[in-house]
Amino acid sequence: MQYRLLGRTGLQVSELGFGCGAVGGLLVRGDYPEMVRTVARAIEAGITYFDTARMYGNGQSETNLGRVLEELQANVIVGTKVQLANAELDTIEAAIVASVEGSLRRLRREQVDLFQLHNPLSLQRQPGREWVAITDYAPIMETFQKLQAQGKIRFWGINGLGETAALHQAIDTGQAYTIQSCYNLLNPTAGTSAPAKFPFQDYAQLIDRAAEQQMGVIAIRVLAAGALSGSATRHPLAAQAVAPITSGQDLAEDAALAQAFHFLVAEGYADNLVEAAIRFAISNKAISTALVGISSLAQLEQALASVEKGPLSVDALAHLPSVWASFAAVDKPT
Ligand SMILES: NC(=O)c1ccc[n+]([C@@H]2O[C@H](COP(=O)([O-])OP(=O)(O)OC[C@H]3O[C@@H](n4cnc5c(N)ncnc54)[C@H](OP(=O)(O)O)[C@@H]3O)[C@@H](O)[C@H]2O)c1
Repeated sequence: MQYRLLGRTGLQVSELGFGCGAVGGLLVRGDYPEMVRTVARAIEAGITYFDTARMYGNGQSETNLGRVLEELQANVIVGTKVQLANAELDTIEAAIVASVEGSLRRLRREQVDLFQLHNPLSLQRQPGREWVAITDYAPIMETFQKLQAQGKIRFWGINGLGETAALHQAIDTGQAYTIQSCYNLLNPTAGTSAPAKFPFQDYAQLIDRAAEQQMGVIAIRVLAAGALSGSATRHPLAAQAVAPITSGQDLAEDAALAQAFHFLVAEGYADNLVEAAIRFAISNKAISTALVGISSLAQLEQALASVEKGPLSVDALAHLPSVWASFAAVDKPT
């Protein structure tokens, strides 16, 4: 396992991170002994970053992760998140404090390493949508700073979802230590310039902008919620209905788009699409850790074997822009 700097936190994180969310599902809906076996294997293989959130199984992921890590006496880096409800936007500090205290209780910790804002960001408040307006950003950062001073959190971060302009503004304040960014073979615009008429959201290279602020970057949706395996069929533990974040209308469309990357396998650049997708994410040096949502030990083993092979070759990467350019013909999701 290789390790990378998580931005200004100074922490070293494994380039493969363990996703404890509902999409992979193991830490939400799995059997407890299987969770212990899989997390133990991850740690043995050198994974040091585990990503959870109160939202994942309404606290279940945090509860299970806390129990497993305590049983294993594991010393790893844990990130969790707070999602503010619209009704809480006028009592931001109290809502964040209550959320972190609940997370610490469930995680069986006195301090969480990374506490992240889960809400997407927008330029204006969006009634009926749990997005945080950039005008509400300052009190959130102030509260995170207080929690750091109290020792409840070591560092804090934001979610790189929402409106691109709002995300860039938040990055430019230089306040957050980390950002989670949707970055995959279907939509690489957080890390590369978008081709003309690219049909999906253009994140305008927010990863590079975050790196300029020495932020740690945590890549999410590296497998497009599973569609980059080339199949929309779900593992029984995985969330059965998953909406793509920044690509096609549904997983079936994303799985169809994923076929465009089969040449990476056919031409010997990777052994399979999952490997190609994971190695694509770690090819971006500004990414600190690439999360994979884990449903089973077998999926973890495949992810480990993939990172073991390192970034995709320069030659493989050079073929990708023409595939992205070909997506221009795809209908924009409504
Ligand atoms: N900040 C945010 O808002 C946010 C949003 C999403 C995720 N995240 C974080 O990112 C983590 C990863 O989740 P994600 O949503 O980004 O999903 P992802 O990693 O893109 O995809 C996970 C899915 O890929 C499939 N998969 C995994 N390994 C595989 C393998 N070896 N072969 C075939 N399929 C495989 C599994 O689905 P099937 O087996 O069912 O195909 C799994 O459910 C989450 O746990 C969470 O920590 C954060």
